[in-house]
Amino acid sequence: MAKNNPGALWGHLHYLQIGSPHPERLAHFAYSALQMTVHQSGADWICCAPDRMLVYSPGPVRSLLSAGYAVAEPEKLAALKQRLVHHGVALEAAPLNFFEADAVTFRDPDGNCLCFGRPVHRNPAAESLPARLQHVVVASTDAERMTRFYTEVVGMRISDRVLDEQHQLRTTFMRTNREHHSLAVFQADSCRLDHFCHETTNWNLIRDWADHFSEEGIILKWGPGRHGPGNNLFIFIHDPDDNWIEISAELETVLEQQPAGVWPHAERSLNLWGRAPLRS
Ligand SMILES: [Fe+2]
Repeated sequence: MAKNNPGALWGHLHYLQIGSPHPERLAHFAYSALQMTVHQSGADWICCAPDRMLVYSPGPVRSLLSAGYAVAEPEKLAALKQRLVHHGVALEAAPLNFFEADAVTFRDPDGNCLCFGRPVHRNPAAESLPARLQHVVVASTDAERMTRFYTEVVGMRISDRVLDEQHQLRTTFMRTNREHHSLAVFQADSCRLDHFCHETTNWNLIRDWADHFSEEGIILKWGPGRHGPGNNLFIFIHDPDDNWIEISAELETVLEQQPAGVWPHAERSLNLWGRAPLRS
């Protein structure tokens, strides 16, 4: 077992709850641009499509209110709970009713709310182009501390790190299964949501999503390109709050015990094909 990993946490990203001063505007965008069904529950706007759920709630613009990861085994949840208690991390009530009662909810060092649990059954959502909610990326003022927390306490594994010329950590890509990353943390001057990503099934589907965005009058903000870490093909759009939304394909799968790689802090690491906005 890797020294930085006290008990691998196998799971995948299940939902994101995103704050906005105008959550209904983002829900309407999810309906038209992301082909999701939408219903209002109190102050929350719940958007669903096969293999993805987004919840838009009142809150600061571009804020991550909570992220939910699906974990199949109750014993993994019990072990996570034990590690959190051992490290003095306070447990909270689940912010949404998307998981069974043994869900484990807590905050990371930046205050982001994380919820790990066994998803409750939901009726199948309407059909859409394939896109599975796959990863979320947060900006942090202390990426080193966040990386230690997610690996040593939560149980994620590091797939790749991006280091600058002074060997300072700029980005960590972490995984919760054999996919290269389901969470990444950028070093930045504030703590915030950076972007979230849907993995589609192949390059042609990225074309189909881009055609759909075009029909909706939405222009691509970045891409098409291919990331260095993860080797995934990508396009990005913005929602009305300027949240970055990614559609990707061909995300690398890694060996269970694959050691962490290192990439330079350079445009080419973000985009092997061309230009890249360096945000960390
Ligand atoms: Fe991404």
